[in-house]
Amino acid sequence: MSRYYVTTPIYYVNDAPHVGHAYATVNADALARWHRLIGDDVFFLTGTDEHGQKVARAAEEHGVTPTEWTDQLSPRFAAAWADLNISNDDFIRTTEARHHRAVQQFLTKIHENGWIVKDTYSGLYCVPCEQYYNEEDLVNGTLCPIHLRPVELLEEDNYFFRLSAFEQRLIDWYEANPEAVVPESKRNEALSFIKGGLRDISITRTSIDWGVLVPWDEQHVFYVWYDALVNYLTAIGYGQDMERFEQWWPSVHHLIGKEIIRFHCVWWPAMCMAAGIDPPAHVQVHGWLLVSGVKMSKSSLNKISPDELTAEFGVDAVRYHLLRDTPLGLDGDFSAEGITSRYNADLANNLGNLLSRVATVVGSKCGGVGPAPDPESRLASVAVEVVSEVTEAWNAGQPNLGLEATWRLLRETNAELETAEPWKADPGPGVDAVLGSALEVLRLVSVLVVPAMPATAEHIWRRIGLSGSPADQRLPGAAVWGGYPGGLDVEKGAPLFPRRK
Ligand code: MSP
Repeated sequence: MSRYYVTTPIYYVNDAPHVGHAYATVNADALARWHRLIGDDVFFLTGTDEHGQKVARAAEEHGVTPTEWTDQLSPRFAAAWADLNISNDDFIRTTEARHHRAVQQFLTKIHENGWIVKDTYSGLYCVPCEQYYNEEDLVNGTLCPIHLRPVELLEEDNYFFRLSAFEQRLIDWYEANPEAVVPESKRNEALSFIKGGLRDISITRTSIDWGVLVPWDEQHVFYVWYDALVNYLTAIGYGQDMERFEQWWPSVHHLIGKEIIRFHCVWWPAMCMAAGIDPPAHVQVHGWLLVSGVKMSKSSLNKISPDELTAEFGVDAVRYHLLRDTPLGLDGDFSAEGITSRYNADLANNLGNLLSRVATVVGSKCGGVGPAPDPESRLASVAVEVVSEVTEAWNAGQPNLGLEATWRLLRETNAELETAEPWKADPGPGVDAVLGSALEVLRLVSVLVVPAMPATAEHIWRRIGLSGSPADQRLPGAAVWGGYPGGLDVEKGAPLFPRRK
């Protein structure tokens, strides 16, 4: 059995989750569910990033301690993910003792290996980014390029990670592992950053104490990114259960947004090398959800909370839209019109309509009992093609293409019904064959949509009379034409996705 370890970035808890975070988490969830469906042993990790100046300041602004603040905020992420039906196996908080321990062990190892040294640092720091910038990277020489707000001059006695010593090793590693970062444009971005020359980086702070203590010098805490990245190791037992750790590492799949490439594709692999473990095997970079061309973010006013959307459209419609309309790797514009038109076209007209039609005609022509599929149906060969395209797309981390292919099968089935018009024909073998094949498509589609719309998949499965759960089916076996046995009660029920104005 293959193992599939997938991670989201851990989210800063300085504000509540928004749809941009949901985009990342839903994609990771869908990939995790896909891999469970193909029989992989899956470990899916998400969580919250709770240290650093930004969080400490947010707590102060709210008149509470950082611990009180993070204890209030972190559960909001966990709750948002529960509402979105996210199937994470673990939820890590960087304030947990297990994480402090792993960070200290990991960084002590790097220190012992001679890659951490003490020096004085003075630089231009952006608090919302939690990073230093070189002057030439700033807008007009003064503003952070991401937040467009002034950076601050900070001077500290710090420990430095000797990142510069890893320049050639990183280049060699990327050359030997061309698939390590996808899409390729992002790999090139990481590589050209490395080739542009790496400077050593300051990895500790004395200006705040809200962080993980440096075990060999407790005046210092680790800089938040150096603490945060280690979460990917903590959760699989680094330093505690190395046997478990080695089962999952290094063949991890990190899903990350495009603004954190440098941390994940330059610093992180170098840190791993410095600690004597392999770098992460796969990093998949995604784009941003934009609102009218601007990144949805907590610092701007354009954020939409996931629960507002799910209250309006339903959980699965939101999940579907996020997965279907913004291909992983590109930016996507988020709008009420976009989600509504996708909902009407794909969910109400195609999927919902097929289920209603089939259930209604099985009611009127077959006494409510679903017939068996036609082994010779033209749809059987369409299904073979579709399943292979779907498999290829999901395996390549492209949910939008997987769903597009799935919907081709639905469209062709609706077209087939329109040609055969079983609602006009007399009951008999002809009608049975057409309806049985349409039911078989619904069975197959329930399985194929498990990653994107797990509750909808269960609903369709039950409505066509099947027992058990589509999520417990295994591909490719469950995709073989003819799995719908016939002779089951098909329930008419209310429209699955009523059309929206
Ligand atoms: N805490 C760090 C990550 C540490 S991982 C070791 C962080 N947190 S964040 O909350 O600011 O962002 C987390 C992720 O959410 C990033 O991958 C980011 O790209 C993603 N998104 C935040 N806003 C987004 C959109 N508007 N659209 C898509 N993803 C977005 O960075």
